[in-house]
Amino acid sequence: MSEISMRQLMQERLPASARGLLNRVASLSEKTGMPVYVVGGFVRDLLLAIENLDIDIVVEGDGLRFARELAQELKAEVTPHSKFGTSVLHFKDGTHLDVATARREFYEEPSALPTVQPGTIREDMDRRDFTINSLAIKLEPDGNRPLLDFNQGQPDLADKIIRVLHENSFVDDPTRIFRAIRFEQRLGFHLSRETEAELVKALPIISKLSGHRLTNELVAILKEKQFTPYLRRMQELGVLVMVQSELSCNEKDFAVLERLEHQLRQPENQLSIGEADPVSVRLLATLWSLDSDAFESTLHRLDLKGQTGDKLRRDRSQCQAVLKQFGSADTLSALQIYDALSPGSVESVYWLLAITENESNESVQLAVERFYSSLRQAGELSLTGDDFIRMGLKPGPLFQRVFRELRRARLEGEISSREEEEKLVREKFHPDG
Ligand code: CTP
Repeated sequence: MSEISMRQLMQERLPASARGLLNRVASLSEKTGMPVYVVGGFVRDLLLAIENLDIDIVVEGDGLRFARELAQELKAEVTPHSKFGTSVLHFKDGTHLDVATARREFYEEPSALPTVQPGTIREDMDRRDFTINSLAIKLEPDGNRPLLDFNQGQPDLADKIIRVLHENSFVDDPTRIFRAIRFEQRLGFHLSRETEAELVKALPIISKLSGHRLTNELVAILKEKQFTPYLRRMQELGVLVMVQSELSCNEKDFAVLERLEHQLRQPENQLSIGEADPVSVRLLATLWSLDSDAFESTLHRLDLKGQTGDKLRRDRSQCQAVLKQFGSADTLSALQIYDALSPGSVESVYWLLAITENESNESVQLAVERFYSSLRQAGELSLTGDDFIRMGLKPGPLFQRVFRELRRARLEGEISSREEEEKLVREKFHPDG
Protein backbone atom coordinates (compact mmCIF):
# COMPACT_ATOMS: atom_id res chain seq x y z
CA MET A 1 0.00 0.00 0.00
CA SER A 2 1.50 3.34 -0.99
CA GLU A 3 2.21 6.19 1.40
CA ILE A 4 -0.66 8.29 0.03
CA SER A 5 -3.18 5.56 0.67
CA MET A 6 -2.04 5.11 4.29
CA ARG A 7 -2.71 8.78 4.78
CA GLN A 8 -6.10 8.36 3.16
CA LEU A 9 -6.84 5.32 5.25
CA MET A 10 -6.19 7.29 8.42
CA GLN A 11 -8.36 10.09 7.12
CA GLU A 12 -11.20 7.67 6.37
CA ARG A 13 -10.95 5.28 9.30
CA LEU A 14 -9.75 7.28 12.29
CA PRO A 15 -11.79 9.76 14.30
CA ALA A 16 -10.56 13.37 14.16
CA SER A 17 -9.35 13.17 17.78
CA ALA A 18 -6.97 10.26 17.02
CA ARG A 19 -5.69 11.98 13.86
CA GLY A 20 -5.13 15.19 15.82
CA LEU A 21 -3.18 13.30 18.48
CA LEU A 22 -0.95 11.63 15.88
CA ASN A 23 -0.32 15.03 14.26
CA ARG A 24 0.82 16.44 17.60
CA VAL A 25 3.18 13.47 18.01
CA ALA A 26 4.53 14.08 14.51
CA SER A 27 5.21 17.77 15.28
CA LEU A 28 7.12 16.83 18.41
CA SER A 29 9.10 14.35 16.33
CA GLU A 30 10.31 17.29 14.20
CA LYS A 31 11.06 19.46 17.23
CA THR A 32 13.07 16.78 19.02
CA GLY A 33 14.66 15.29 15.90
CA MET A 34 13.55 11.81 16.99
CA PRO A 35 11.81 9.62 14.39
CA VAL A 36 8.46 8.37 15.70
CA TYR A 37 6.16 5.53 14.65
CA VAL A 38 2.74 4.18 15.48
CA VAL A 39 2.99 0.39 15.68
CA GLY A 40 1.50 -2.99 16.54
CA GLY A 41 -2.18 -3.82 16.95
CA PHE A 42 -3.27 -0.30 16.05
CA VAL A 43 -1.72 -0.53 12.58
CA ARG A 44 -2.97 -4.11 12.08
CA ASP A 45 -6.53 -3.09 12.94
CA LEU A 46 -6.36 0.12 10.89
CA LEU A 47 -5.53 -1.96 7.82
CA LEU A 48 -8.31 -4.43 8.65
CA ALA A 49 -10.81 -1.60 9.27
CA ILE A 50 -11.37 -2.75 12.85
CA GLU A 51 -11.88 0.02 15.40
CA ASN A 52 -8.93 0.19 17.79
CA LEU A 53 -7.92 3.38 19.53
CA ASP A 54 -5.22 1.77 21.63
CA ILE A 55 -2.28 3.74 20.23
CA ASP A 56 1.29 2.46 20.72
CA ILE A 57 4.07 4.88 19.83
CA VAL A 58 7.70 3.86 19.30
CA VAL A 59 10.47 6.48 19.35
CA GLU A 60 13.92 6.01 17.85
CA GLY A 61 15.98 7.78 20.48
CA ASP A 62 15.07 8.73 24.02
CA GLY A 63 11.48 7.57 24.42
CA LEU A 64 11.30 8.61 28.08
CA ARG A 65 12.23 12.20 27.23
CA PHE A 66 9.86 12.24 24.27
CA ALA A 67 7.01 11.03 26.47
CA ARG A 68 7.77 13.68 29.10
CA GLU A 69 7.71 16.48 26.53
CA LEU A 70 4.59 15.14 24.85
CA ALA A 71 2.82 14.92 28.21
CA GLN A 72 3.72 18.53 28.91
CA GLU A 73 2.38 19.67 25.55
CA LEU A 74 -0.82 17.67 25.82
CA LYS A 75 -1.35 18.36 29.52
CA ALA A 76 -1.34 14.68 30.32
CA GLU A 77 0.00 12.81 33.32
CA VAL A 78 2.97 10.60 32.55
CA THR A 79 4.04 7.37 34.25
CA PRO A 80 7.55 6.36 33.17
CA HIS A 81 9.03 2.86 33.51
CA SER A 82 12.70 3.78 33.18
CA LYS A 83 13.90 0.18 33.26
CA PHE A 84 12.02 -0.63 30.03
CA GLY A 85 12.24 2.82 28.41
CA THR A 86 8.42 2.94 28.26
CA SER A 87 5.88 5.50 29.49
CA VAL A 88 2.13 5.76 29.66
CA LEU A 89 0.42 9.11 29.14
CA HIS A 90 -2.93 9.45 30.89
CA PHE A 91 -5.35 12.01 29.51
CA LYS A 92 -8.08 13.76 31.42
CA ASP A 93 -10.81 12.02 29.40
CA GLY A 94 -9.61 8.64 30.74
CA THR A 95 -7.77 7.57 27.56
CA HIS A 96 -4.08 6.72 27.47
CA LEU A 97 -1.16 6.52 25.09
CA ASP A 98 1.85 4.16 25.30
CA VAL A 99 5.25 5.53 24.30
CA ALA A 100 8.27 3.21 24.06
CA THR A 101 11.89 3.53 23.04
CA ALA A 102 12.66 1.39 19.98
CA ARG A 103 14.56 -1.65 21.24
CA ARG A 104 16.14 -4.93 20.47
CA GLU A 105 15.74 -7.92 22.72
CA PHE A 106 17.71 -11.00 23.75
CA TYR A 107 16.17 -14.03 25.35
CA GLU A 108 18.77 -15.59 27.60
CA GLU A 109 16.42 -18.30 28.78
CA PRO A 110 13.16 -19.66 27.37
CA SER A 111 10.06 -18.07 28.92
CA ALA A 112 12.08 -15.58 31.02
CA LEU A 113 11.63 -11.87 30.34
CA PRO A 114 14.10 -10.62 27.73
CA THR A 115 17.11 -8.35 28.15
CA VAL A 116 16.47 -5.14 26.19
CA GLN A 117 18.70 -2.51 24.59
CA PRO A 118 17.83 0.61 22.59
CA GLY A 119 17.62 -0.15 18.88
CA THR A 120 16.18 0.90 15.54
CA ILE A 121 12.56 0.65 14.43
CA ARG A 122 13.54 -2.32 12.29
CA GLU A 123 15.03 -4.13 15.29
CA ASP A 124 11.95 -3.28 17.28
CA MET A 125 9.66 -4.73 14.61
CA ASP A 126 11.85 -7.82 14.24
CA ARG A 127 11.50 -8.75 17.95
CA ARG A 128 7.69 -8.92 17.75
CA ASP A 129 5.35 -11.88 17.85
CA PHE A 130 3.67 -12.16 14.43
CA THR A 131 4.16 -10.61 11.02
CA ILE A 132 0.75 -8.93 11.19
CA ASN A 133 1.77 -7.24 14.47
CA SER A 134 5.13 -6.04 13.17
CA LEU A 135 3.91 -3.18 10.98
CA ALA A 136 4.77 0.44 11.70
CA ILE A 137 3.61 3.75 10.27
CA LYS A 138 6.10 6.58 10.42
CA LEU A 139 4.62 9.85 11.65
CA GLU A 140 6.35 12.45 9.51
CA PRO A 141 5.92 16.13 10.35
CA ASP A 142 4.85 17.01 6.77
CA GLY A 143 1.82 14.73 7.10
CA ASN A 144 3.31 11.77 5.26
CA ARG A 145 2.48 8.41 6.81
CA PRO A 146 4.68 5.75 5.15
CA LEU A 147 4.00 2.15 6.11
CA LEU A 148 7.05 0.10 7.10
CA ASP A 149 6.65 -3.61 6.56
CA PHE A 150 9.93 -5.45 7.17
CA ASN A 151 8.37 -8.88 7.67
CA GLN A 152 5.73 -9.38 5.01
CA GLY A 153 2.96 -8.42 7.39
CA GLN A 154 0.77 -6.95 4.69
CA PRO A 155 0.59 -10.05 2.50
CA ASP A 156 -0.17 -12.12 5.62
CA LEU A 157 -2.97 -9.73 6.54
CA ALA A 158 -4.39 -10.12 3.07
CA ASP A 159 -4.08 -13.92 3.20
CA LYS A 160 -5.38 -14.09 6.80
CA ILE A 161 -2.28 -15.80 8.13
CA ILE A 162 -0.72 -15.77 11.60
CA ARG A 163 3.01 -16.31 11.18
CA VAL A 164 5.87 -15.96 13.65
CA LEU A 165 8.97 -14.01 12.62
CA HIS A 166 11.49 -16.68 13.59
CA GLU A 167 11.39 -20.30 14.61
CA ASN A 168 12.24 -19.74 18.29
CA SER A 169 9.51 -17.20 18.84
CA PHE A 170 7.23 -19.46 20.92
CA VAL A 171 10.16 -20.91 22.87
CA ASP A 172 11.43 -17.44 23.72
CA ASP A 173 7.99 -16.30 24.77
CA PRO A 174 5.36 -19.02 25.30
CA THR A 175 2.69 -16.38 26.01
CA ARG A 176 2.68 -16.11 22.21
CA ILE A 177 1.08 -19.56 22.04
CA PHE A 178 -2.04 -18.06 23.60
CA ARG A 179 -1.74 -14.86 21.59
CA ALA A 180 -1.55 -16.86 18.35
CA ILE A 181 -4.82 -18.61 19.19
CA ARG A 182 -6.41 -15.36 20.27
CA PHE A 183 -5.61 -13.49 17.04
CA GLU A 184 -6.40 -16.51 14.89
CA GLN A 185 -9.87 -16.92 16.36
CA ARG A 186 -10.67 -13.24 16.82
CA LEU A 187 -9.73 -12.28 13.27
CA GLY A 188 -10.86 -15.49 11.57
CA PHE A 189 -7.26 -16.14 10.42
CA HIS A 190 -5.26 -19.38 10.50
CA LEU A 191 -1.77 -20.31 11.64
CA SER A 192 0.70 -20.95 8.84
CA ARG A 193 1.78 -24.61 8.66
CA GLU A 194 5.26 -23.85 9.99
CA THR A 195 3.93 -21.63 12.74
CA GLU A 196 1.52 -24.32 13.90
CA ALA A 197 4.33 -26.89 13.96
CA GLU A 198 6.56 -24.52 15.97
CA LEU A 199 3.73 -23.79 18.37
CA VAL A 200 3.19 -27.49 19.01
CA LYS A 201 6.94 -28.02 19.49
CA ALA A 202 7.04 -25.26 22.11
CA LEU A 203 4.07 -26.54 24.15
CA PRO A 204 6.18 -28.05 26.97
CA ILE A 205 7.63 -24.57 27.66
CA ILE A 206 4.19 -23.49 28.92
CA SER A 207 5.16 -25.26 32.15
CA LYS A 208 7.86 -22.64 32.67
CA LEU A 209 5.46 -19.70 32.55
CA SER A 210 4.66 -18.12 35.90
CA GLY A 211 1.08 -18.47 37.12
CA HIS A 212 0.61 -14.75 36.80
CA ARG A 213 1.68 -14.56 33.13
CA LEU A 214 -0.27 -17.69 32.25
CA THR A 215 -3.42 -16.33 33.87
CA ASN A 216 -3.04 -12.99 32.09
CA GLU A 217 -3.09 -14.79 28.75
CA LEU A 218 -6.05 -16.98 29.70
CA VAL A 219 -8.00 -13.99 30.95
CA ALA A 220 -7.33 -12.15 27.67
CA ILE A 221 -8.92 -15.14 25.92
CA LEU A 222 -11.79 -15.34 28.42
CA LYS A 223 -12.55 -11.69 27.67
CA GLU A 224 -12.97 -12.17 23.92
CA LYS A 225 -16.47 -11.94 22.44
CA GLN A 226 -16.89 -15.68 21.95
CA PHE A 227 -15.18 -18.30 24.05
CA THR A 228 -16.01 -21.75 22.66
CA PRO A 229 -13.91 -21.55 19.47
CA TYR A 230 -10.88 -20.43 21.49
CA LEU A 231 -11.28 -23.28 23.98
CA ARG A 232 -11.80 -25.77 21.18
CA ARG A 233 -8.61 -24.60 19.52
CA MET A 234 -6.67 -24.81 22.81
CA GLN A 235 -7.92 -28.37 23.20
CA GLU A 236 -7.13 -29.28 19.59
CA LEU A 237 -3.56 -27.93 19.69
CA GLY A 238 -2.79 -29.57 23.04
CA VAL A 239 -2.59 -26.31 24.99
CA LEU A 240 -5.18 -27.17 27.65
CA VAL A 241 -3.38 -30.24 28.98
CA MET A 242 -0.23 -28.17 29.31
CA VAL A 243 -2.09 -25.79 31.60
CA GLN A 244 -3.32 -28.69 33.76
CA SER A 245 -2.79 -32.32 32.81
CA GLU A 246 -6.43 -33.26 33.48
CA LEU A 247 -7.94 -30.29 31.70
CA SER A 248 -9.82 -31.54 28.68
CA CYS A 249 -13.07 -30.81 26.85
CA ASN A 250 -15.18 -33.04 24.64
CA GLU A 251 -18.02 -32.32 22.23
CA LYS A 252 -20.58 -32.51 25.03
CA ASP A 253 -18.67 -29.89 27.02
CA PHE A 254 -18.52 -27.59 24.00
CA ALA A 255 -22.27 -27.95 23.51
CA VAL A 256 -22.93 -26.97 27.14
CA LEU A 257 -20.54 -24.07 26.77
CA GLU A 258 -22.40 -22.91 23.69
CA ARG A 259 -25.61 -22.81 25.74
CA LEU A 260 -23.80 -20.66 28.28
CA GLU A 261 -22.61 -18.34 25.51
CA HIS A 262 -26.18 -18.07 24.29
CA GLN A 263 -27.28 -16.93 27.76
CA LEU A 264 -24.42 -14.44 27.99
CA ARG A 265 -25.49 -12.88 24.72
CA GLN A 266 -28.96 -12.16 26.07
CA PRO A 267 -28.59 -10.91 29.62
CA GLU A 268 -31.97 -9.22 29.40
CA ASN A 269 -33.69 -12.56 29.73
CA GLN A 270 -37.24 -12.85 30.95
CA LEU A 271 -36.16 -13.86 34.42
CA SER A 272 -34.07 -10.71 35.09
CA ILE A 273 -31.30 -12.74 36.66
CA GLY A 274 -28.87 -9.92 35.98
CA GLU A 275 -25.65 -9.80 34.00
CA ALA A 276 -22.98 -12.39 34.65
CA ASP A 277 -19.27 -11.62 34.44
CA PRO A 278 -18.19 -13.59 31.36
CA VAL A 279 -14.61 -14.17 32.58
CA SER A 280 -15.72 -15.62 35.87
CA VAL A 281 -18.48 -17.87 34.51
CA ARG A 282 -16.37 -19.11 31.58
CA LEU A 283 -13.59 -20.02 33.97
CA LEU A 284 -16.06 -21.86 36.18
CA ALA A 285 -17.25 -23.72 33.07
CA THR A 286 -13.73 -24.60 31.91
CA LEU A 287 -12.74 -26.09 35.26
CA TRP A 288 -16.11 -27.73 35.94
CA SER A 289 -15.31 -31.30 35.02
CA LEU A 290 -12.11 -31.47 37.11
CA ASP A 291 -12.27 -33.43 40.35
CA SER A 292 -11.61 -31.40 43.47
CA ASP A 293 -7.87 -32.19 43.66
CA ALA A 294 -7.30 -31.25 40.04
CA PHE A 295 -9.47 -28.16 40.52
CA GLU A 296 -7.37 -27.02 43.49
CA SER A 297 -4.12 -27.75 41.70
CA THR A 298 -5.30 -25.66 38.73
CA LEU A 299 -6.12 -22.72 41.00
CA HIS A 300 -2.64 -23.09 42.44
CA ARG A 301 -1.02 -23.29 38.99
CA LEU A 302 -2.88 -20.19 37.85
CA ASP A 303 -1.95 -18.39 41.04
CA LEU A 304 -5.63 -17.64 41.66
CA LYS A 305 -5.44 -16.62 45.25
CA GLY A 306 -7.67 -14.38 47.32
CA GLN A 307 -11.04 -13.23 46.10
CA THR A 308 -10.88 -14.68 42.59
CA GLY A 309 -10.00 -18.17 43.81
CA ASP A 310 -12.52 -17.97 46.63
CA LYS A 311 -15.31 -16.90 44.30
CA LEU A 312 -14.57 -19.78 41.92
CA ARG A 313 -14.59 -22.24 44.80
CA ARG A 314 -17.84 -20.84 46.16
CA ASP A 315 -19.60 -20.84 42.77
CA ARG A 316 -18.48 -24.37 42.10
CA SER A 317 -19.66 -25.78 45.41
CA GLN A 318 -22.88 -23.81 45.18
CA CYS A 319 -23.65 -25.39 41.79
CA GLN A 320 -22.66 -28.84 43.01
CA ALA A 321 -24.90 -28.49 46.09
CA VAL A 322 -27.92 -27.39 44.06
CA LEU A 323 -27.49 -30.22 41.54
CA LYS A 324 -27.18 -32.76 44.32
CA GLN A 325 -30.18 -31.52 46.24
CA PHE A 326 -32.45 -30.96 43.24
CA GLY A 327 -31.37 -34.10 41.48
CA SER A 328 -32.60 -36.38 44.25
CA ALA A 329 -35.75 -34.58 45.41
CA ASP A 330 -39.09 -35.10 43.70
CA THR A 331 -40.84 -32.03 45.01
CA LEU A 332 -39.21 -29.09 46.65
CA SER A 333 -40.85 -26.63 49.00
CA ALA A 334 -40.65 -22.92 48.29
CA LEU A 335 -38.36 -22.53 51.30
CA GLN A 336 -36.01 -25.27 50.06
CA ILE A 337 -35.72 -23.57 46.68
CA TYR A 338 -35.18 -20.22 48.33
CA ASP A 339 -32.49 -21.58 50.66
CA ALA A 340 -30.68 -23.31 47.82
CA LEU A 341 -30.67 -20.47 45.32
CA SER A 342 -30.56 -17.25 47.31
CA PRO A 343 -26.90 -17.52 48.39
CA GLY A 344 -25.74 -18.12 44.78
CA SER A 345 -24.03 -15.62 42.49
CA VAL A 346 -25.42 -14.64 39.09
CA GLU A 347 -22.56 -16.63 37.54
CA SER A 348 -23.54 -19.82 39.33
CA VAL A 349 -27.13 -19.48 38.12
CA TYR A 350 -26.00 -19.00 34.50
CA TRP A 351 -23.89 -22.11 34.76
CA LEU A 352 -26.63 -24.15 36.43
CA LEU A 353 -29.03 -23.22 33.63
CA ALA A 354 -26.50 -24.14 30.95
CA ILE A 355 -25.64 -27.57 32.37
CA THR A 356 -29.20 -28.61 33.04
CA GLU A 357 -30.90 -27.30 29.91
CA ASN A 358 -31.01 -30.58 28.05
CA GLU A 359 -31.63 -32.83 31.00
CA SER A 360 -34.74 -34.94 31.37
CA ASN A 361 -34.98 -33.91 35.02
CA GLU A 362 -36.18 -30.33 34.79
CA SER A 363 -36.18 -29.59 38.51
CA VAL A 364 -33.27 -27.14 38.41
CA GLN A 365 -34.68 -25.21 35.45
CA LEU A 366 -38.12 -25.02 37.07
CA ALA A 367 -36.71 -24.04 40.45
CA VAL A 368 -34.59 -21.24 38.96
CA GLU A 369 -37.61 -20.00 37.04
CA ARG A 370 -39.75 -20.04 40.16
CA PHE A 371 -37.07 -18.37 42.26
CA TYR A 372 -36.52 -15.46 39.88
CA SER A 373 -40.12 -14.98 38.84
CA SER A 374 -41.59 -14.91 42.36
CA LEU A 375 -39.75 -16.42 45.33
CA ARG A 376 -36.76 -14.06 45.31
CA GLN A 377 -39.04 -11.09 45.86
CA ALA A 378 -41.59 -12.87 47.99
CA GLY A 379 -38.89 -14.01 50.41
CA GLU A 380 -37.82 -10.48 51.28
CA LEU A 381 -38.69 -9.62 54.86
CA SER A 382 -39.69 -6.23 56.23
CA LEU A 383 -38.68 -6.79 59.83
CA THR A 384 -35.08 -6.69 60.97
CA GLY A 385 -33.30 -7.86 64.13
CA ASP A 386 -33.74 -4.35 65.57
CA ASP A 387 -37.49 -4.70 65.16
CA PHE A 388 -37.41 -8.01 67.03
CA ILE A 389 -35.55 -6.34 69.91
CA ARG A 390 -38.04 -3.47 69.91
CA MET A 391 -40.76 -6.08 70.12
CA GLY A 392 -39.15 -7.56 73.22
CA LEU A 393 -37.37 -10.64 71.80
CA LYS A 394 -33.98 -11.59 73.17
CA PRO A 395 -31.15 -11.70 70.59
CA GLY A 396 -29.67 -15.14 70.08
CA PRO A 397 -30.38 -18.35 68.13
CA LEU A 398 -34.08 -17.56 68.41
CA PHE A 399 -33.68 -14.82 65.81
CA GLN A 400 -32.69 -17.36 63.14
CA ARG A 401 -35.83 -19.36 63.90
CA VAL A 402 -37.99 -16.25 63.68
CA PHE A 403 -36.46 -15.22 60.36
CA ARG A 404 -36.98 -18.69 58.98
CA GLU A 405 -40.58 -18.89 60.04
CA LEU A 406 -41.32 -15.45 58.64
CA ARG A 407 -39.67 -16.39 55.36
CA ARG A 408 -41.58 -19.67 55.12
CA ALA A 409 -44.84 -17.86 55.79
CA ARG A 410 -44.02 -15.19 53.19
CA LEU A 411 -43.00 -17.77 50.57
CA GLU A 412 -46.13 -19.84 51.12
CA GLY A 413 -48.31 -16.75 50.83
CA GLU A 414 -49.60 -16.87 54.40
CA ILE A 415 -48.47 -13.30 55.04
CA SER A 416 -47.56 -10.43 52.75
CA SER A 417 -47.05 -7.25 54.77
CA ARG A 418 -45.02 -5.82 57.61
CA GLU A 419 -48.10 -5.77 59.85
CA GLU A 420 -48.70 -9.46 59.21
CA GLU A 421 -45.05 -10.20 59.98
CA GLU A 422 -45.38 -8.39 63.31
CA LYS A 423 -48.59 -10.25 64.09
CA LEU A 424 -46.96 -13.60 63.37
CA VAL A 425 -43.95 -12.78 65.56
CA ARG A 426 -46.23 -11.76 68.39
CA GLU A 427 -48.38 -14.84 68.08
CA LYS A 428 -45.62 -17.41 67.71
CA PHE A 429 -42.56 -15.99 69.43
CA HIS A 430 -43.52 -13.24 71.84
CA PRO A 431 -42.64 -14.06 75.44
CA ASP A 432 -46.13 -12.95 76.46
CA GLY A 433 -47.77 -13.99 73.21
N1 CTP B 1 3.96 -8.08 21.38
C1 CTP B 1 4.85 -9.10 21.09
N2 CTP B 1 4.94 -10.21 21.89
C2 CTP B 1 4.15 -10.31 22.99
C3 CTP B 1 3.26 -9.28 23.31
C4 CTP B 1 3.18 -8.17 22.48
O1 CTP B 1 5.57 -9.01 20.09
N3 CTP B 1 4.24 -11.38 23.77
C5 CTP B 1 3.91 -6.89 20.50
C6 CTP B 1 3.04 -7.06 19.25
O2 CTP B 1 3.65 -6.34 18.21
C7 CTP B 1 1.73 -6.40 19.64
C8 CTP B 1 2.22 -5.26 20.52
O3 CTP B 1 3.36 -5.77 21.20
O4 CTP B 1 1.03 -5.94 18.52
C9 CTP B 1 1.20 -4.76 21.52
O5 CTP B 1 0.79 -5.81 22.38
P1 CTP B 1 -0.70 -5.93 22.89
O6 CTP B 1 -1.21 -4.59 23.27
O7 CTP B 1 -0.74 -7.01 23.91
O8 CTP B 1 -1.41 -6.51 21.61
P2 CTP B 1 -2.25 -5.90 20.44
O9 CTP B 1 -1.60 -6.39 19.18
O10 CTP B 1 -2.44 -4.45 20.58
O11 CTP B 1 -3.58 -6.73 20.59
P3 CTP B 1 -4.98 -6.42 21.28
O12 CTP B 1 -5.82 -6.02 20.12
O13 CTP B 1 -5.40 -7.72 21.87
O14 CTP B 1 -4.73 -5.35 22.31
